[in-house]
Amino acid sequence: MTAMRIIRTKDYDAMSAAAARLIAAQITLKPNCVLGLATGSSPVGAYQNLIAWNKAGELDFSQVRSVNLDEYAGLTPDHDQSYAYFMRHNLFDHVNIDQKNTNVPSGVNGDEECERYDKLIADFGGIDLQLLGLGVNGHIGFNEPDDHFSLGTHKVTLTESTREANKRFFTSIDEVPTHAYTMGVRDILQARRVVMVASGANKAQAIKDAFFGPVTPQVPASILQYHPDFILVADEEALSLI
Ligand code: F6R
Repeated sequence: MTAMRIIRTKDYDAMSAAAARLIAAQITLKPNCVLGLATGSSPVGAYQNLIAWNKAGELDFSQVRSVNLDEYAGLTPDHDQSYAYFMRHNLFDHVNIDQKNTNVPSGVNGDEECERYDKLIADFGGIDLQLLGLGVNGHIGFNEPDDHFSLGTHKVTLTESTREANKRFFTSIDEVPTHAYTMGVRDILQARRVVMVASGANKAQAIKDAFFGPVTPQVPASILQYHPDFILVADEEALSLI
């Protein structure tokens, strides 16, 4: 029996508004909360809602702390395809968050970054709300299909399907990094609440496999079936196979 809740929305904009309301509620209830944040296309609309509410004086980020899921190996924070850059551009530069309280794994710190990042999350007392997107292959963060579930932050080899899916942001596939640093599945599962956003027909099979099939490391998101407070916010197209 899963504790999963599904918020079904008409389209991407409605999904974004619904997810933003959950995040805003978290910030309102606990102003110094720890948000786990994601990059990619799925959360951008939610971030736009949060920015609008912040600018309207309805939402205060001044005490919020954040930890992002992942970063490409080899990219510095000023690289325009790095996830650190993405977060500044899509959220942090537009709200009153203290940038010192924002954290993205370093892509250039070597393997010691993994231990440093897990300690940082632990020192924060864990994550209050983790926002996730869903890979077309069922990945969460950059935890790719595998024969076991990962634990803490680690370096991964990106699958060809993930590099292919992400090449739209680069000039050619050759420029898409081959490796990344990502929080592990255990880190994600330890978040007190997990909210996933998914939109569009290309996520429909992954949603079916992850949440209406067996729990297996071949579909990393499927482990969320065991999370006690997991909310899937998805639009009609993404839910079209279930
Ligand atoms: C991003 C991340 C990835 C994405 C996933 C979906 O920080 O961790 O797992 O959430 O690849 O990407 P989009 O939203 O671009 O379809």
